[in-house]
Amino acid sequence: MKLLFLNGPNLNMLGIREPDIYGKQTYAALEAYIQGFCRELGIEGEIFQSNHEGALVDAIQAAYGKMDGIVINPAAYTHTSVALLDALKAVGLLAVEVHLSDVSKREDFRQVSYVRLACCKTFAGHGFEGYRMAAEYLLALKGGMIGEG
Ligand code: DQA
Repeated sequence: MKLLFLNGPNLNMLGIREPDIYGKQTYAALEAYIQGFCRELGIEGEIFQSNHEGALVDAIQAAYGKMDGIVINPAAYTHTSVALLDALKAVGLLAVEVHLSDVSKREDFRQVSYVRLACCKTFAGHGFEGYRMAAEYLLALKGGMIGEG
């Protein structure tokens, strides 16, 4: 199983940016965490971060025909980007939305998620673990252990 882990703007600043919300661990630590559970679960994981919306669109398009699913934390683009939503719809890959923080308990403008419309599940407020939960969810879906409904 091949999964693309996609991270949006400012996630490269993890550890520095608002540690009370996003924690003290760095982006490198997040990458190591993802690589670790991928090894454990037998997943071939590819990790990509960009501060640029178009680069994220390109990465989603490049996953077409190559990847079995996408785990995406679009960061601020969650709340603004029709382009990311359209890209996910275009490739038609199974996608799970992840947020480190619990966006449902934050500002009003974070209550809108465009990408969610193309995702089969959202994990928010679980910190790094949300990425693992998303990967396990996609594994279970692919293995037929849960329905796609
Ligand atoms: C975030 C939540 C977004 O609202 C915010 O813009 C981010 C990070 C999260 O992981 O909690 O940059 O996606």
